[in-house]
Amino acid sequence: MRVRVLGTAAGGGVPQWNCACPGCSGARAHPERRRRHASLAVRAAEGRWYLVNATPDLGDQVEDCPELHPGPEPRHTPLAGVILTDAELDHTLGIARLREADRIRIVATAPVRHALLTGLRLGDVLTPYAALDWDDLGPGDRPLAEDGDLTIAAVPVSAKRPRYAAGLDGHDEGAWVVALRLTDRGTGRSLLYAPALAAWPDAFQRAAEEADCVIVDGTFWDDEEPLRSGFGSRTATAMGHLPIEGPGGTAPRLAALGARTLYTHLNNTNPLNDPAAPQHAVLAGRGIEVAADGMVIEL
Ligand code: MLT
Ligand code: MN
Ligand code: ZN
Repeated sequence: MRVRVLGTAAGGGVPQWNCACPGCSGARAHPERRRRHASLAVRAAEGRWYLVNATPDLGDQVEDCPELHPGPEPRHTPLAGVILTDAELDHTLGIARLREADRIRIVATAPVRHALLTGLRLGDVLTPYAALDWDDLGPGDRPLAEDGDLTIAAVPVSAKRPRYAAGLDGHDEGAWVVALRLTDRGTGRSLLYAPALAAWPDAFQRAAEEADCVIVDGTFWDDEEPLRSGFGSRTATAMGHLPIEGPGGTAPRLAALGARTLYTHLNNTNPLNDPAAPQHAVLAGRGIEVAADGMVIEL
């Protein structure tokens, strides 16, 4: 299995356009600290790749990833579609950037599809440009490409809805936010990707115990970070993101796994955006990594 990390930031990115916090200012002064919105590219088969989430940075993310470049024919692209873990704007706005295609394949759970079609009206807006081909992302492993070894499955995480979808009617409440499990049938190795963790359900724990690599929500270092930064009025947990350390922190759970473990989806307030922050040693001591833009993961 070959995965390229295309971005590692939470909504807004690092730096965020309207923010001069230490994290954002630091990234303006030190370009190597910049983080694009969290996303992965996964190879489904030879020369065929899927994005995991489609971010507002999608155009730049494709250009910076040689495996995603078009060619040799003028309009041939290796990008075969998009898999969505949720319907949040930072994970879906990039779909509109793909409208130059004839068709866009989108693999998503039923509530995510419902939110995009009725909340964002993505079908009405995009169909005049490109056909949307929807595929269901469910709990059972299914091949991503007929001629490839990779299978995908959704592991339900939480019922946290995007703010724009607050008023939409029901649907399968457990599948608003899922973790994506990618398994290579050839090697038996698997990767679990969960950029939004409002909770740590038993099914997620089981999937994490079975995985060889686990990449999870590292939006906030601790629960009080959004309040302390002065930009938020809710704790991390109340915003739908379990913190890394402190009460309810995910780091001890990750450290107890046998897998390679990494954090992604860092908010610009997260002290980990400063390479000199002491928090890096805390994670290293637990055997946990911070994902970096451009990183390649081979499993
Ligand atoms: C989140 O992760 O909580 C959302 O993406 C926030 C946002 O960007 O609106
Ligand atoms: Mn987000
Ligand atoms: Zn900032």
